[in-house]
Order: sequence, then structure tokens, then C-alpha cells
Amino acid sequence: MSRDLLAPARPRVLVLPSAEAVADVARAEVLGAVDDARGKGRDPVLGLATGASPRALYRLVADAAPDGGLSDVWAVALDEYVGLGPDDPHRYRAELLREVVVPWGLDPGRLLVPDVDADDLDLSAAVFDDRLAALGGVDTQILGIGRNGHIGFNEPGSSWRLGTRRVRLSLSTRQANSAYFDSLDAVPLAAVTQGIATILRARRLLLVATGAAKADAVAAAVQARPTPRCPASVIQFHPQVLVVLDDAAAAGLEE
Ligand code: GLP
Repeated sequence: MSRDLLAPARPRVLVLPSAEAVADVARAEVLGAVDDARGKGRDPVLGLATGASPRALYRLVADAAPDGGLSDVWAVALDEYVGLGPDDPHRYRAELLREVVVPWGLDPGRLLVPDVDADDLDLSAAVFDDRLAALGGVDTQILGIGRNGHIGFNEPGSSWRLGTRRVRLSLSTRQANSAYFDSLDAVPLAAVTQGIATILRARRLLLVATGAAKADAVAAAVQARPTPRCPASVIQFHPQVLVVLDDAAAAGLEE
């Protein structure tokens, strides 16, 4: 990161009329990042959020990519639940295989996810960051945003200096994510997440948000003074950020 940490700046924000238009602009950004990395002689490394926000984008990339055209891409998970069985479809590894690796025709050996089955999660989190560094870092990190402003699973109050690590999930995040499970009790209590320091090391950030439920978090992330109370507000310190929103998610922004 080259920008002075004491001098936040307004990220570039695009507001579009529909979720489809958001996905389309984000698709162009992702494919541009792939071309850029190749142009510099590197295998492209994409950081991938899970959840609803990037799903349409992932589909459009799959539609746009010629057969085998993305086989040099590395896919790096943003986070992973702790405590789910190895074959549980709610694992983010499983979601990324379904939503990205298979439809994009990626090599499954190029999917990097924190090892949440290890006895020592501190060690496996550090190994994840080391492997990421060995890949040359993330070219573009795709981010969603939680209703409480979280990025990855960095909950409000998370230190901006920390790398990948084990975290406890807040009740509000578990409630939000219970939509994807049978019940709130089925939602894991913990996860391993890329830390904010890890996320900031990506060359570019691409934050995608749609829907009115994200409007407050987006306003706090993009226009309010950066604070650890809104983890996503740290993007204001990154030199290459694009935020792509639909009208509803942008409703809290001032002109
Ligand atoms: C989840 C994930 C994040 C995701 C965010 C928003 O809890 N850990 O990586 O970006 O919350 O999720 P969604 O896009 O489903 O609203």
C-alpha cells in the first residue's frame, strides 16, 4: 500500500440501475485484472468473496470465459467457516467450487482456502498468508459487505493490523447468514478470515453491494470517517478501489 495511512481518500464509486448492471461492470473489472496480470507475466490471482453479492458476477465471468480460458487463474478464498463437516455444502470451499472453480474451468489445485480442519488454526492461518505471499499476492480482491460493515469475517472492532486468523462470529452476522442454513443454531460460531492487513495487500479491491439492506453499511464504508467500528471503511486507505453499487445500496450516499 503506497498511500499514507493518515490520509484516507474517497474510493471510486459507480452506481448502476440494477444488480445485473453491477455484475456486468464487475465482470469487466475482473477480466481486466486477469489480462493485466498476464500482461505482466504473472498467473492471475483473484481473491474471492462468497455469499450472494458476487454470485451474478461469477456467472457472467463463466459466460464470458472461453473454454479453458481461465485455467491459469488462482482462486483465493476470503474466509471459511470453522466447525462444519468436511463434506458440508455450506463450507465456502464447497461454494467456491460450485460457483467459481467448476463454471470457470479452473484447476481445483489452484483454489486456496484456509485449512480449517487443522488442530492448530493459528498455524494454518499463517500458512495461508505465506502461501498467498508466495503466489505473489492477490491481483484483485472481490469483496461483499456485511450489514454491520464487515469484510470477510472481520467484525466491527477488528484491528486493521491483523493478518489471517480465527475469529468468533457476531450474533448479527450469524443471523444474517442463517438465511443460507436450516436454522440459526446450524450457523458456525467461528471462522478463519483473511485479516484486514491481508485484504489491504491486494493490488486492487472491488467491492460489490446490492440491495437496501446494505445502504447504511455502504455509506459508513465509503463516505464516513474511517473507523474500526466499520471494518469496510478501511478501503478508504487503499490506493486502487472500485465500489460498484445498485441504486438501493447507494441510497445512503450523499452526492
Ligand atoms: C458474509 C461473508 C462475506 C460476505 C458478506 C456479505 O458473512 N463472510 O465474505 O461478503 O458476509 O454476504 P452477502 O453477499 O451474502 O450479503
